[in-house]
Amino acid sequence: MSYCVDISPLDKRVECWRSHFPQLRRKVHGRPLVYLDNAATSLKPRDVIEAVQQYYLRDNANVHRANHALGHASTTVYEDARKAVAQLIGAAATQEIIFTGGTTDSINALATALSKSYLQRGDVVLLSELEHHSNIVPWLELSQRMGIQLVYLPIAEDDDRVVKALEEHIERHRPRLLAVTHASNLTGRVLPIERMAEVARQYEVPMMVDGAQGVVHHRIDVAKLGLDFYAFSSHKLYGPMGIGVLYIRKKWHDVLPPFRFGGGMIDEVDYQSVSYAQAPYKYEAGTPHVAGAAGLLAAVRFLESIHWEEGLAYEQQLLRVAVDTLRKVDGIRLLGHEGGQYDPIVSVYAPKVHHYDLAVLMDQMGVAVRAGHHCVQPYLKKLGLKGTVRISLAFYNTEEEVEYCADALKRSIQILTG
Ligand SMILES: Cc1ncc(COP(=O)(O)O)c(C=O)c1O
Repeated sequence: MSYCVDISPLDKRVECWRSHFPQLRRKVHGRPLVYLDNAATSLKPRDVIEAVQQYYLRDNANVHRANHALGHASTTVYEDARKAVAQLIGAAATQEIIFTGGTTDSINALATALSKSYLQRGDVVLLSELEHHSNIVPWLELSQRMGIQLVYLPIAEDDDRVVKALEEHIERHRPRLLAVTHASNLTGRVLPIERMAEVARQYEVPMMVDGAQGVVHHRIDVAKLGLDFYAFSSHKLYGPMGIGVLYIRKKWHDVLPPFRFGGGMIDEVDYQSVSYAQAPYKYEAGTPHVAGAAGLLAAVRFLESIHWEEGLAYEQQLLRVAVDTLRKVDGIRLLGHEGGQYDPIVSVYAPKVHHYDLAVLMDQMGVAVRAGHHCVQPYLKKLGLKGTVRISLAFYNTEEEVEYCADALKRSIQILTG
């Protein structure tokens, strides 16, 4: 299956991509929707919506242990989704793909499992200063409950400095785990995870990457990078909400115990004893989100069908337009975008105006952007800020939308500053 691939020039191809996203046709406050809140959640292509609907219209039944046709159909779509995800992120084996509720759920699950089998009081977990709360709070909980220590790596604009700082931090703190974001949801900064993974490997420090944003804008190859764990959510990757992935490298399957318990994850149960199934099932207790998996499978197939690389290259082009255009708006400042590698996310703040007021006015003009701390409070506090307006792009956005957004921002600032 292929969509839009033979269409040129590029703006016609973008139009074709857009035609697959029904929400792009709706209006808000009587104006065409300009959706620039993609880092919070992406819009869904029709194929994804239909896959979820078809699942409930036709195949709905519980997975595994089923000996009827619908049970088999349901199990097939669920396991096909696992295979598609394994391929998407370059996992060496499908058993390495664990379905969870999303990135937050994946990191919580991992922290719980590591706390039972690997981390001990006094151990250091090395995070970056740019982490989302989802990759801070689960470790803070371990720090409060069992006395692990958290150390934060500074993230400079220059990748060489990041890698050097990583080496120094590893030498100084001897962490038992490196857990960093692939890309910041606040600034869009992409961490040099390939080089960081190399350093981690050299020092034999296991590495977890929060791929909530990264997986949406990069072709990742977890096996090639030698990552131990990779977490992401379906809903940011054009799939349904309520399902996500925790990649657990095979060598950890005997080390990491299950993190949830009940049906579906056992080998044998007695009144006083239990033995567990093999991965991935030992990590997936209870009835899974099969409709979500069907939708995620459709999302992955959709991305392949449009030749996703072209969308990714176009996003970078759009990002350059966004940065150039936003820099020309009086009264605002941009976070970052000074030289390092960035995903198509731009946070701006206006020293004289509250970010919420800006976002509310922009919404009235049809522009959906997010204002607030974006779950990155520690880093914002370090910058002396309470919040930003975040503009986050996807491959279905256009230069006209970016320009309209910059204009809406300009008009909102004028209104608010009189
Ligand atoms: C970098 C990052 N990590 C984690 C999360 C949490 O994702 P979810 O809410 O889907 O669990 C987000 C969501 O914005 C994110 O951007």
